[in-house]
Amino acid sequence: MNQVFVGISELYTPQNRLERAAFAVQDGRFVWVGAEAELPEAYHLWPRTDLGGHGVLPGLVDAHTHLVYGGDRLGEYLQRARGESYEAILAAGGGIYSTVRATDAASEDELYEWAQARAQIFLTQGVTAIEIKSGYGLLPEAELKMLRVIRRLEEHLPQHVFATLLAHVIPKGWEREKYVEMFCQELIPEVAKTGLAEAVDVFCDEGAFTLDETRRILEAALSHNLRIKLHAEQIAHTGATRLAAALGALSADHLEQTTPADWEALAQSGTVGTVLPGAAVILRKPFPNARAMWDAGVRVAIATDHNPGSSPLYSPWLGMQLTASLGRLSLEEALLAHTENAALALGRADLGKIEPGARADFVVVDSPHALMPLYHWGHTPIHAVYVGGRPVFP
Ligand code: NIG
Ligand code: FE
Repeated sequence: MNQVFVGISELYTPQNRLERAAFAVQDGRFVWVGAEAELPEAYHLWPRTDLGGHGVLPGLVDAHTHLVYGGDRLGEYLQRARGESYEAILAAGGGIYSTVRATDAASEDELYEWAQARAQIFLTQGVTAIEIKSGYGLLPEAELKMLRVIRRLEEHLPQHVFATLLAHVIPKGWEREKYVEMFCQELIPEVAKTGLAEAVDVFCDEGAFTLDETRRILEAALSHNLRIKLHAEQIAHTGATRLAAALGALSADHLEQTTPADWEALAQSGTVGTVLPGAAVILRKPFPNARAMWDAGVRVAIATDHNPGSSPLYSPWLGMQLTASLGRLSLEEALLAHTENAALALGRADLGKIEPGARADFVVVDSPHALMPLYHWGHTPIHAVYVGGRPVFP
């Protein structure tokens, strides 16, 4: 399908900014982008959509979410706001374990319906590609159940979906060694064989997996040709970031406790450093030094980390605003971090940008100024969202 979009008052690519812009889309991808006055002859006869003088941004990429889960953790959220620690609640069998119980109690259909409704909210926020992790199943069959739900979302959501198998915590009643062995020798091979996930992630931290266990799980993933990602340096400094860099992970995420040596390792390896402002702010952790990471040469991404515990965040815009204010990125950098850099955290160089060859996923802003949604806090002026050149919202 061929189509030309005109009437764009301001376009962020986001490496570049154009006024009175236009672009051409063929078979779901951009084939030409430039000033409307310079639209080549060849495109003049293509069907035309006038975007009415609105600003346009690339579709947002959310490269770290736990979108599939049962229940909520409102009670725990209130407790934490009164000063109880996330770590202590987890150690006492609540936190992640309480979501594991609620997820276990839900049917596959229920999990699908709830996650689909959340994904729809993300769509209205301009998120056109989303990573979704398992990790609230823990036991092999329960993890596969979560991954099947993610597969169904991938088949039915308008967004691009990237599925990740997450080693989250050791299930109650299991010996650590037995669980790690099962994860490496049963679950990873099964997931690789069925193609239910593209990557494996590990929560490497105090109260979850040790650095050594993490290394074993990641090496098993790599030996099955799966990509790897890591929850790194959120609560304690464990060395997870440097491990991620050494093993060529797509990304190391959280990074609250990282050091300059960690940033250097990420910069050298090209592993994306993903900041999760929701979890950092809500758990009252030190805000990751996004400015220093960026200046050290790290490809910095931002993600919502949407989950029922540490980050019940639905707004990537708020995430960018917080990272600009507390992590000292410019707003243009924050946008790059939630589009093109976030796409690299999924190994997708064809998402999160508006240039020939990229997927035609874009956000039409309810203002002539493309960056208006980063200016209004708590209100997101979005007029329409397109995936592959087709309108998917409203
Ligand atoms: O990314 N840190 C560990 N995992 C999730 C939180 C999961 C939860 O609290 O349910 C995170 O913050
Ligand atoms: Fe997470």
